[in-house]
Amino acid sequence: MNITSQIKRPIQVEMELFEKKFYESMTSKVALLNRITYYIVNRKGKQMRPMFVFLTAKMLHDGQVNERTYRGASVIELIHTATLVHDDVVDDSNRRRGFFSINALWKNKIAVLVGDYLLSKGLLLSIDHGDFDLLRIISVAVREMSEGELLQIEKARRLDIVEDIYYEIIRKKTATLIASCCALGAKSVIEDEMQVENMRQFGELIGMAFQIKDDLFDYTEDAIGKPTGIDIKEQKMTLPLIYVLNHCSPKEKSWLINSIKNHNKDKKRIKEVIAFVKNNHGLVYAEQKMREFQQKALQLLDAYPNSDYKEALILMVNYVIERKI
Ligand code: IPE
Ligand code: IPE
Ligand code: MG
Ligand code: MG
Repeated sequence: MNITSQIKRPIQVEMELFEKKFYESMTSKVALLNRITYYIVNRKGKQMRPMFVFLTAKMLHDGQVNERTYRGASVIELIHTATLVHDDVVDDSNRRRGFFSINALWKNKIAVLVGDYLLSKGLLLSIDHGDFDLLRIISVAVREMSEGELLQIEKARRLDIVEDIYYEIIRKKTATLIASCCALGAKSVIEDEMQVENMRQFGELIGMAFQIKDDLFDYTEDAIGKPTGIDIKEQKMTLPLIYVLNHCSPKEKSWLINSIKNHNKDKKRIKEVIAFVKNNHGLVYAEQKMREFQQKALQLLDAYPNSDYKEALILMVNYVIERKI
């Protein structure tokens, strides 16, 4: 059995029901919107966020989830989908999940509005059922994701980024949402704030590893269902490049900066930059940092008694860094 079906086994029933509810949560009376949401749900992603929600809830509550858990999982996946639709506009990317992105097919105008629609449907799903405690967790994530994306743009413009700022960016743009999956999964079934906070931290740590992995993909030519090699083109400096920039000679550094600043659309030059990063241990370093976050996440799980759900969460943590897409 492959690793994802092994992870899903203890939450199979929940994931099946989730998919139905998730699709229903998107419908609209506007035909154009329905056409687009239909397109979206037929190209589903890895669904790691709902998996984190259900596994956390079940681990903490003797394998029991409730309607709040389902709604929380849908809200998070709706918000995740909204941010991907917007992200592809921001990054000018034409592929997502192995197919054309929404902006590639329907243009930016429509992609922006569809993203807003999905976001509002997520928020309303919580409000309509009075899940205000869950809504608070989610709203913090939405705010931080916007801040993270903008911080990234700010730094890309000035080309001055150090490791700590990179961590701040990825914590906000990616780790926060995964943190809220675990916090929300917990909060949907238990009251204990310390436990909720513990699971939030777990999610944040694994979320950091998750984004470092995503940034490593960009240095490969792997078929991951979305473009690779576009970070430098977009002047986005990620951990491998940041490390190399801070560990090379001043002459090499100005060559790198000049390449990113003035030659970022030149394919040959980008290839040279990528090769330089590889030869100067940028990928090795980033991988090592990714594993440090992974280990810290695993340590937080030590405190919980063994169960099928805990085992699946451990597998999930490992999947985050071993995954091929
Ligand atoms: C992509 O997330 C966006 C990032 C935060 C890197 P996923 O890799 O979880 O996307 P899907 O849902 O599986 O397509
Ligand atoms: C992650 O950003 C997406 C969000 C957190 C909104 P990226 O731009 O790095 O993600 P991909 O690689 O396009 O999925
Ligand atoms: Mg982006
Ligand atoms: Mg992107």
